[in-house]
Amino acid sequence: MARKLRVLHAAGEAVPLAKTGGLADVVGSLPRALVENNTDARIVIPGYKVALEAAKKLGRVKVHPQQMHIEAGGHVHQVGVAEIILNKVRYYMLVCPELYERDGLYGPVPNEDYDDNARRYSVFAKAVLALPTFIKWVPHIIHAHDWQAGLIPPLLERGFGNDLPATRCVFSIHNIAYQGTMWHFDMKLAGLDWALFNHMQLEHNGQFNYLKAGVVFADRVTTVSRRYADEILTPEFGAGLEEVLQHHHYKVSGIHNGIDTQVWDPENDPEIAMPFSAKDLSGKKDCALALRKELGLVTDTKACLVGVISRLVEQKGLDLVLETVEPYVLSGRMQLVVLGSGDPVLEHGFHQLAASHPGWVTFWRGYNEGLSHRIEAGSDIFLMPSRFEPCGLNQMYSMRYGTLPIVRYTGGLADTVTDVLVDNGTGFTFGPADVGYFSSAIDRALGLFEHYPKEWAAAQVRAMAVDNSWQHVSQEYEELYRELVFL
Ligand code: ADP
Ligand code: GLC
Repeated sequence: MARKLRVLHAAGEAVPLAKTGGLADVVGSLPRALVENNTDARIVIPGYKVALEAAKKLGRVKVHPQQMHIEAGGHVHQVGVAEIILNKVRYYMLVCPELYERDGLYGPVPNEDYDDNARRYSVFAKAVLALPTFIKWVPHIIHAHDWQAGLIPPLLERGFGNDLPATRCVFSIHNIAYQGTMWHFDMKLAGLDWALFNHMQLEHNGQFNYLKAGVVFADRVTTVSRRYADEILTPEFGAGLEEVLQHHHYKVSGIHNGIDTQVWDPENDPEIAMPFSAKDLSGKKDCALALRKELGLVTDTKACLVGVISRLVEQKGLDLVLETVEPYVLSGRMQLVVLGSGDPVLEHGFHQLAASHPGWVTFWRGYNEGLSHRIEAGSDIFLMPSRFEPCGLNQMYSMRYGTLPIVRYTGGLADTVTDVLVDNGTGFTFGPADVGYFSSAIDRALGLFEHYPKEWAAAQVRAMAVDNSWQHVSQEYEELYRELVFL
């Protein structure tokens, strides 16, 4: 039998302790699947206020009596370690109140950064590398995710983890648009040799770039879908790092995300009005009625119920929704439910749309986990017209709930949704991010929904049958880890 692998996942967030987006879903659920497959996978995140509070509510938290002493730019931070086991996975939280115990994760409000993020995630990287000796558990692999963990590969390679000579590093890019670009003098916090501050290594446009650091120094780089792995080699999607990725192309690969099929399970979801399955979809109608009632939508209608759950940012292409949906609503063919927050201009747009069409459009501003399940369960269609999408999770949650997604053909959306009309698929895809193409995808979807109920139901059953579980996907990571450490 193969020897047991030890893998430490390091990231800025992980469910159920801290989340701003899909990164947290992935970091919280991939290790669980690895553990179920006999890998010793653990997670380390900063000890944010929300994370420490959530942990206390969820179980028994063990606080180590000693502290690690982590130096950054001449100042020594005392970093404690709190630990909890959730769903068989051990989570470590690095406790340093002066750096992490604040109201936000990365900034006081979404889309705003704390001034000292360079220090916060420099200390995080060093503390992650000091952790194995501290807890007397040495991983074969450190799997670092996104810019928040970007300094782990160079620090490890340059011997910061003195006690980790054989540990290898995988770095995953979840979204190349967020790079952690810092002032060049922040190099002092990392304590890395100034000779590395050059265009081939840590420097990018005069700044210290944490994501680039991760790409350049990791043993292997992964991103969250095959298509996105190709896209980021081009200027359109590479966000300025395309040449760096081309240079390191030999070690880059794409593995699309899985989903947590226990948390997202229409047959067993405590958040929804009535369970349902591919064999018996009748409960989905009850979920639709309950959702309409919950949100004050007109119930006496055959209109298609369309859902959106998203961060409201440029990436997600939701301006196209604002520009496109009104005629369908006015003609009584569509009701729209939007859950999300972010860009004030988009928020204002959805408020206006809802105010103009009471009973037909609702906008729930903010973050609401329970409602996100009820929207997936009750909607007929889910919209995801992203301009770019490294992987995307909601299209997969939608498919599992028999809610057919309309997606732009990009990144992980293109890898996970096939078009119903072209090849017996599981949703609807469109090409250019333009109102005309988007409307024609909506026309096709509404046409099928309104006139071909049998074909619609067959597509729902096909969508629900797709296996996007981590059990399936995590094997690709395990193979990659084993290649690196010859286990
Ligand atoms: P991204 O990470 O780019 O935001 P993903 O599709 O990978 O996109 O993941 C988004 C995750 O965040 C999903 O789990 C989605 O359900 C959740 N989410 C986004 N906005 C909200 C919201 N307002 N309320 C509840 N969940 C949300
Ligand atoms: C990022 C991407 C999203 C992806 C998620 C998890 O936030 O925007 O597409 O699904 O990370 O990998």
